[in-house]
Amino acid sequence: MSTAPFVLRTEDLKKDLNVGEVTVQALRGVSLTVQRGEFLGIIGPSGSGKSTLLGLIGGLDTPTSGRVFIDGTDITDLNERALTRVRNEKIGFVFQFFNLIPTLSALENVALPIQFARHSPFNPHKRAKELLTLLGLDDRLGHRPTQLSGGQQQRVAIARALANNPALLLCDEPTGSLDSASSETVMKALRDVQRNTGTTVIIVTHNMDIAAQMDRLVTLVDGHLASDVDVESSAQMAAVKVLKEKRATTEIKAVP
Ligand SMILES: Nc1ncnc2c1ncn2[C@@H]1O[C@H](COP(=O)(O)OP(=O)(O)O)[C@@H](O)[C@H]1O
Ligand SMILES: [Mg+2]
Repeated sequence: MSTAPFVLRTEDLKKDLNVGEVTVQALRGVSLTVQRGEFLGIIGPSGSGKSTLLGLIGGLDTPTSGRVFIDGTDITDLNERALTRVRNEKIGFVFQFFNLIPTLSALENVALPIQFARHSPFNPHKRAKELLTLLGLDDRLGHRPTQLSGGQQQRVAIARALANNPALLLCDEPTGSLDSASSETVMKALRDVQRNTGTTVIIVTHNMDIAAQMDRLVTLVDGHLASDVDVESSAQMAAVKVLKEKRATTEIKAVP
């Protein structure tokens, strides 16, 4: 791992998307620095660019302009092969739908990315068991996805994302398809991961209950970074609390 103090930096990141004849400016210049071990939320209304930003950070897509640095590496101009390597070694993804392989057990799902890694220092089954234990699933190792609840499946997906010890865990609406009890277990699991492994966790959400649990919140509005709040500070904590109480719907309205 690099010794750079920040694990992620984006510089004036822009992304244009072509929809037929029309160009949508999904991101209009986002500069964001994230320190190692942060527990960061990215919030904002639907369509504000959250998923686009996460995709660029994770090397799933390339920016129209601007730069992305991951763990000391400038990934902006890497070719597809080098980018794939960065993605496999430094990034873990968790999505709203768990995307587990239905024919494999929880243990086998988590072991798979280690088996695919070319020079992994890990024993696949041993590490898979350790990660599933960390996520409270040590009694579910042999279960297939259909034999698990939604919250349990998402915790398997989190363990799988951590398999190759990434610098960054990127979660796009990780509780978006879960009931509130399962959401709570998943959020607790993500917090345990951040505390116990020091992994930097970034969570995209439009749910204010989730947002209120983050240490720092950045807000995207229309492809811009509209605010950056350290919720340790009490005034800002109060603002987050008010936001939480005001949520008539789970969607945050754009700031005019
Ligand atoms: N594949 C795509 N092609 C065209 N436009 C897209 C595509 N993905 C997203 N967009 C547009 O880009 C903007 C940002 O989308 P997105 O990043 O998905 O927002 P969010 O995750 O905050 O809901 C929206 O206007 C959306 O309609
Ligand atoms: Mg999205």
